[in-house]
Amino acid sequence: MAAAHIGLIGLGVMGRNLALNLVDNGYTVAVYNRTRETTDAFLAEAGDQRDGLIGCATLDELVSHLRPPRPVLLMVKAGDAVDQQIEALAPLLEAGDVLMDGGNANFRDTRRRAAVLREQGLEFLGVGVSGGELGARHGPSIMVGGSSDGFAAVSAMLQAVAAKAEEDRCCAYLGTDGAGHFVKTLHNGIEYADMQMIAEAYHILRHGHAMAPAECGAAFRRWNEGPLSSYLIEITADILETIDPDTGDALVEKILDRAGEKGTGRWATAEALDLGVPAPTIAEAVAARAVSSVKEERLAAAKLYAEIGVTAPTPIDEPRAVEAVVRSMAGALLAGKIAAYAQGFAVLSAASRQWGWDLPLDRIAQIWRAGCIIRSRFLDDIAAAYATPPAPANLLVAPHFVAIMGRHQIDLRQIVSFAIGIGLPVPAMASALAYFDSYRRDRLWADMIQAQRDYFGAHTFERTDRPGSFHFEWAAGDEA
Ligand code: 6PG
Repeated sequence: MAAAHIGLIGLGVMGRNLALNLVDNGYTVAVYNRTRETTDAFLAEAGDQRDGLIGCATLDELVSHLRPPRPVLLMVKAGDAVDQQIEALAPLLEAGDVLMDGGNANFRDTRRRAAVLREQGLEFLGVGVSGGELGARHGPSIMVGGSSDGFAAVSAMLQAVAAKAEEDRCCAYLGTDGAGHFVKTLHNGIEYADMQMIAEAYHILRHGHAMAPAECGAAFRRWNEGPLSSYLIEITADILETIDPDTGDALVEKILDRAGEKGTGRWATAEALDLGVPAPTIAEAVAARAVSSVKEERLAAAKLYAEIGVTAPTPIDEPRAVEAVVRSMAGALLAGKIAAYAQGFAVLSAASRQWGWDLPLDRIAQIWRAGCIIRSRFLDDIAAAYATPPAPANLLVAPHFVAIMGRHQIDLRQIVSFAIGIGLPVPAMASALAYFDSYRRDRLWADMIQAQRDYFGAHTFERTDRPGSFHFEWAAGDEA
């Protein structure tokens, strides 16, 4: 029986492109899809890679093509489908075989699966794969958690198919059980925040300053040459320069403003709340998608508030005014990005302690420099900030970022103030500014919160002038 190096189950967009990537890197891949026609169609269209693929009609057949320790990669929809595949596959495998889940699994499911499969002697890996279709085909960022022995058995293959930042393969083992999927979830949470702030920046230029989509695209194209350089900035410039073939207008303006989401942003927000770590910009980005999804309600509300509405845009066509706004927006995006990434890495740091993973924050930033959706030049600076112990308590107090925030917080403040003043919602940018202002402030509103809690619930408070826990009879005369 022809031997394959790895089995891959699930020939959706990510699965079939990863299979082709593996073949390009010299591996023979036994492939299986629950729907046989999907497997046949994939093989028929495989072209040059066909010889590196072995189509399998059953899981038994797939396993029969593998030599121990048998590596099998699941690329199926997160949730029940993964449990169903594991249930069907595990009895066919032997102790020491390596089962990998490369979907966007919730890390809590991965932890559960790892415990069960460990009992059966199987090595289970939760593998976060980022980069979408092109990433899977030509090099994703790969975040691995689970059995270290299992990783050792498949590391060469995963490194071979991963993206490269310079000569560094963007693939790393990050910790036990759900570490890889947790890091992928926070990648997605940061991605949501990054995408939302970019969308807000575009919305301000377009609807706050009446700049044409192509003009906005030129601004993003220019930003992609500087410290904001990133995949998301680059594709935004591409999007803004794309003309709808049907109408000749900017295609982005023909797209319904109702955002979808598959859940990872929500999970990131939920885990931040569970850890008690503030991640308001990630949360606002998730909420922003939810607000956009109630389109019919918004249309009705817009009619009710038509008079109150949005102040008319402040069109700018005088070159120096355009230059000033474009520069200020770039500074605002950079400051907002620092605040958002600071939140994401603070959640990673807290989770690392909570779950005993010892997450290598510098390595995580390094493997995000290429292949993944948030890939950017900016991640070099984050990696550098975490490279030399002791790690900063928060990226906002890493010297490199203190200097940038010192220069550009004013841009974020002015842009957010302008947008709020004319009624343009900027939830992510505004929350990034509030997070920065809160984190850097020596005295916050919590004195009043504590007083209120003690007033109605006798929850006690600490004092600024002496140690201890205090309660005050606020309403001594109160009969209640
Ligand atoms: C990636 C992407 C990917 C994500 C999809 C849909 O890292 O390649 O983040 O994993 O799941 O882009 O995400 P949403 O539907 O939640 O936006």
